[in-house]
Amino acid sequence: MQDPIDKRLKKKFTDVPKWAEDFPLDQGKDSNVSRRDFVRYLALVSLGFFTGTSTIFLRSLFKTAPVYTQRMKIIDRDDLKIGESYVFGIPGIKEQAILLRLGEDQFVAFGQKCTHLQCPVIWKKEEKMLFCPCHKGAFNGTTGDVLYGPPERPLPKLKIEVAPDGVYFVGMERGELV
Ligand code: FES
Repeated sequence: MQDPIDKRLKKKFTDVPKWAEDFPLDQGKDSNVSRRDFVRYLALVSLGFFTGTSTIFLRSLFKTAPVYTQRMKIIDRDDLKIGESYVFGIPGIKEQAILLRLGEDQFVAFGQKCTHLQCPVIWKKEEKMLFCPCHKGAFNGTTGDVLYGPPERPLPKLKIEVAPDGVYFVGMERGELV
């Protein structure tokens, strides 16, 4: 019969502990470990990239443009003088919009976020333009088209209805508010 102490000692020195695998004395084995760690690291990074890309792809598949089903009153006609602007929100939409009164019956409305890096644009009555103070971009106050500066796309344009009792938002004419 084998001595139990002898048996334990033999077992102890034949089972290689985990730390000894990671820090071997033998130089050849050491380079194996480095290669193994490198592969593990590579697999982990690839998994991270794969997960990130898949998430973005799936989100883009299920992202739908908001549907504006309700006609919403923005303001009473008489509460906005000719040449003035009014910033307003739409329930359920984070982005603010800006309504401009350009003439007696001429109203236009745009998303207020600059299409460059999303700073809010401000109305410049004298120049009849929407100006972005962040990087000095400007949009035409009638059409929302880019006049100058870094933005490359026009502002989202809202569809509005001018009724005797007020101005109403009824949907989007161009682009989306998010
Ligand atoms: S954010 Fe408007 S010009 Fe850059």
